[in-house]
Amino acid sequence: MAKAKTIFACTECGSQFPRWQGRCTECGNWNTIVEEVAERKSFGMALTAGAGGAPVALEKVTAGTAARFSSGIEELDRVLGGGLVKGSLVLVGGPPGIGKSTLLLQAALKLGKSSPPILYVSGEESPQQIRLRADRLCPGLEQSGIIILPETELESIEAKIAEINPSAVIVDSIQTVFRSDLSPAPGSVTQVRECAASLMRLAKNRGITIILVGHVTKGGEIAGPRVLEHLVDTVLHFDSYGIHNVRALNAVKNRFGTTREIGFFEMEAEGLRPIPDASKFFLETRVEGISGTVIFPSMEGTRPVLVEIQALVSKSYGAEQGAPPIRRSVGVDLNRLLMLAAVLQKRCSGLGLWKADIFVNAAGGMRLTEPALDLPLVLAIASSLFNKDMEGSAAFGEVGLGGEIRSVTNASMRLDELLKLGIKTCFVPARSSDEELQARFGEAGLRIVPCQTVSEALQKAGLRISSLRNKPSEDVF
Ligand code: TYD
Ligand code: MG
Repeated sequence: MAKAKTIFACTECGSQFPRWQGRCTECGNWNTIVEEVAERKSFGMALTAGAGGAPVALEKVTAGTAARFSSGIEELDRVLGGGLVKGSLVLVGGPPGIGKSTLLLQAALKLGKSSPPILYVSGEESPQQIRLRADRLCPGLEQSGIIILPETELESIEAKIAEINPSAVIVDSIQTVFRSDLSPAPGSVTQVRECAASLMRLAKNRGITIILVGHVTKGGEIAGPRVLEHLVDTVLHFDSYGIHNVRALNAVKNRFGTTREIGFFEMEAEGLRPIPDASKFFLETRVEGISGTVIFPSMEGTRPVLVEIQALVSKSYGAEQGAPPIRRSVGVDLNRLLMLAAVLQKRCSGLGLWKADIFVNAAGGMRLTEPALDLPLVLAIASSLFNKDMEGSAAFGEVGLGGEIRSVTNASMRLDELLKLGIKTCFVPARSSDEELQARFGEAGLRIVPCQTVSEALQKAGLRISSLRNKPSEDVF
């Protein structure tokens, strides 16, 4: 009997190799290559079996607009680009226990009301477990419009879809589904890829929306969703965000919309609670009257979110002994902090930062990478240095090495959000603010302070005492 041909596939990226190797030369991961039986019965990523279509001129193709419907969860719709698209395949990835099943069951509960029936295929949890969760999410459940199918064999799932004709299907998770005519184990690269490709064809042919849950593991046994990312229409990533129980949902790939939207949720005992007013939520724990804090209107995708930037500047005892002063940052790039400290030192002489330890923190456990963060950081540092409260002021703007403040994107959107949250003052790059803008926001109650340079910003914030200029730094502390 002929020996079955085997191949070696990477569980992270899906690349195939003729022999085993310790490291995948495609994606660079170690220990992700596993042996699988080679399969010939594969349609690959073809949308229809055999996929033989006649060539057609592009302008002759009827485009049609993507027919959308709401998932019933506004934050989810936003990330999808305005709702679920009929006939699309969506992959929701994320670490175990983050709340993927909860999110999709919540969506199913809404969809079950608006467009029944919804098929929930579960290969991981029993119908009883799902019922328990549903009771928690939606007490007094009646007429859910959801049909639970505890099944992992793809052929049976497809048969049930044909029979029930649901408006949407949720498959939790794709790693548990297998095609019985393929020999590799469920969860292997081949199985995951072929099952997803089959479901893709089904979604396109029947015009139903299919949502897949995909686990992200580093373990090696289960194929990572990256194999699937090429195949599906939309990839959503669900992960924790900062501290508390905050979860963020964002699109990594979206054939029907931008990948810049972000949805926020809070995991509570009764399930995921959407956070439509993210700025208010993240500023809730703010304590007023403390020096060293400035509000930063950060952009999370196309969405402004206010974050409190904190700095603590204290006398460095190490520096007195000739050691370098300490610089530490949480949620902010340390290189950025080092650069800003150097710019402050050079462009605003007399601050004596070389003798000061600097700690900065983005409150709420946020991770910020925007260059617009520079000006609030600089002001927070100076505010702590002089021990002078910024009185709830906000700031945004990029700082160059010359101490100049450069304009950033979405200035008016950031200002709108500040206004909405009742912030009274904002320091902005001079180039981002003309008189019309200042007058418009001024009338509404938000004072805009245009700044050309770091030194001007400090002066306008009352953070520079001119007599200090040439005095030794000890005076500051
Ligand atoms: P789950 O949706 O099962 O995660 P995933 O499918 O991504 O693995 O959610 C798991 C966690 O969420 C679990 O640790 C308990 C918590 N949880 C709540 O805090 N409140 C709830 O209402 C639910 C349903 C879950
Ligand atoms: Mg789950």
